[in-house]
Amino acid sequence: MCGIVGYLGRRPALPILLEGLRRLEYRGYDSAGVALARDGRLLVRKAAVRVAELTRLTANLAGSTTGIAHTRWATHGPATATNAHPHTDAGRRIAVVHNGIIENATALRTALSASGVRLVSDTDSEVLAHLIAAAAARGGTLTEAVRTALADVEGTYGLLVLDAERPDVLVAARHGSPLVLGLGDHEMYVASDLAALVRHTQQVVYLEDGELATIRADGFETSSGADRQPTVVEEVPGDYELGGFPDYMAKEIAEQPEAAQRVLRGRLDERLGTARLDGLRFTARELRGIRRVKFLGCGSAYYAGQVGAGLVEELARVPADAEPAAEFRYRNPVVDPDCLYVAVSQSGETADTLATVEELQRKGGRVVGAVNVVGSAIARECDSGVFLHAGPEISVASTKAFTNMAVAFALLALTLGRVRDLSLAEGRRIAGALAELPERIGEVLAESDRIASLAGRFADAEHVFFLGRVRGWPVAREGAQKLKEISYVHAEAYQASELKHGPLALVDPAMPSVVLIPDDELAAKNLGTIEQVKARGGPVVAVTTTGLAVPGADDVVRIPSAGPELDPVLLTIPLQLLAYHTARKLGRDIDKPRNLAKSVTVE
Ligand code: AGP
Repeated sequence: MCGIVGYLGRRPALPILLEGLRRLEYRGYDSAGVALARDGRLLVRKAAVRVAELTRLTANLAGSTTGIAHTRWATHGPATATNAHPHTDAGRRIAVVHNGIIENATALRTALSASGVRLVSDTDSEVLAHLIAAAAARGGTLTEAVRTALADVEGTYGLLVLDAERPDVLVAARHGSPLVLGLGDHEMYVASDLAALVRHTQQVVYLEDGELATIRADGFETSSGADRQPTVVEEVPGDYELGGFPDYMAKEIAEQPEAAQRVLRGRLDERLGTARLDGLRFTARELRGIRRVKFLGCGSAYYAGQVGAGLVEELARVPADAEPAAEFRYRNPVVDPDCLYVAVSQSGETADTLATVEELQRKGGRVVGAVNVVGSAIARECDSGVFLHAGPEISVASTKAFTNMAVAFALLALTLGRVRDLSLAEGRRIAGALAELPERIGEVLAESDRIASLAGRFADAEHVFFLGRVRGWPVAREGAQKLKEISYVHAEAYQASELKHGPLALVDPAMPSVVLIPDDELAAKNLGTIEQVKARGGPVVAVTTTGLAVPGADDVVRIPSAGPELDPVLLTIPLQLLAYHTARKLGRDIDKPRNLAKSVTVE
């Protein structure tokens, strides 16, 4: 969603800010803006435009080495130039860019209006500029003014403040929304996301919640007073480049073998048939004490959690389930001290998942993270966890992160299983299959052209069913999710067994079904599902890891098996490709589907 970039140093700020905004475009936004400090004045340009257009609008702004910039995803008020950030006070001394939500904005707006301040936008963020300007007018440093203003503010913020009268300093504040400082050579960068920084520096400092940072070209100090040593991030600029692919989704699908390799690296013990997840920091005895596992996430992260729950029950015989994080947090959940709660998130910023983690912690629940973005809010909030090591995922549609979530959960299930009743032989079989999984994923990707040839069937359809049972059910849900989010073809997933209890009424020759057939004991039942659909004239595409004949299916996509337990990981990949090729055929904006943002940082 919203993105923040700031620069302070020895080079012209504008191109750096615009380039940073371009790197944040993937998060989703509907307006963009920039503010520079020059000759004691603020130069502000903002509009409901893409960053390319903002670049044209700012062509005549040069000569400043300090500035802040923003991409906004509308929440309070429509996407207009006035509502776009940066926001300024009436005297145009203070400019702010803000991610998050000011919860008491209405009360603050009323109070400001009563004191004669004219608010020009519909946003919650604008109040920050006025409050900081009022505090700054009373004297003291910019940092003091920001601290004073924030004392009246309730809500979440990643905030960056520029003062036209003090262009040698920027002030950043974090409460709930991430901000990271990038350290350069007599220059400093600030951003809400590493993507905007790594082209310039690998040395970063993640601001802590509740922390304020005073930033100058040659360094920074934080309100915590702690000596904050920079972290050297593993991301490099190439991770954010297309590198010859037509879009990021194609790139990220193709990267899955290497990504899976990374999440497995150093974590498998094939000799003992188990896994080592050091980030969990549990002793064998503590692992044995876990009586239940619950995966919590949103969208695809929730579906990946469902794959994980299946694996935990199967390999460890520990009851497990998955639930959408938002549902969980709002139903006043009973928090079980013997349950391991796993918060699942690619971005580590999803508001509902983060709030769920906080709720669990308040109630004494044991919550670990399964997060891709290091330094993200959820990663920092959880006491321990498993990093997914998928690398930056830019496309809104999650692919490699989903796969790595499922692989990480297989490692967790194996770990839990081997301190219980999973035998050495079985443990070794699963560990061996996991070690070979990256290669199997590569073999599935080799089917891309074959799958592309089926895309026409789906591009012409108005509705599509995805049908699976038990191991195939979360796969069906993820397949439907991928198709609808990037192609806008309506897709629904059903447990194959539920078909005859209602949804079968919808099947007709215009409505194709994708039926998933893992290589397990339910294969014959899945073949029966195909018969049911065919008997109503519905076209069927079967996706299977079995070598079975699939009579009745109009098309069969055959992929290798990784063993029944891990087949859900492999079966998801043809569905990613199916969605991708359908969306391409329909000419969709694949990486930035309409109405969606990469990180959903609001409720
Ligand atoms: C995935 O394709 C979706 N864009 C979406 O459902 C996503 O998985 C969800 O918003 C959760 O995001 P997170 O993993 O960053 O928490």
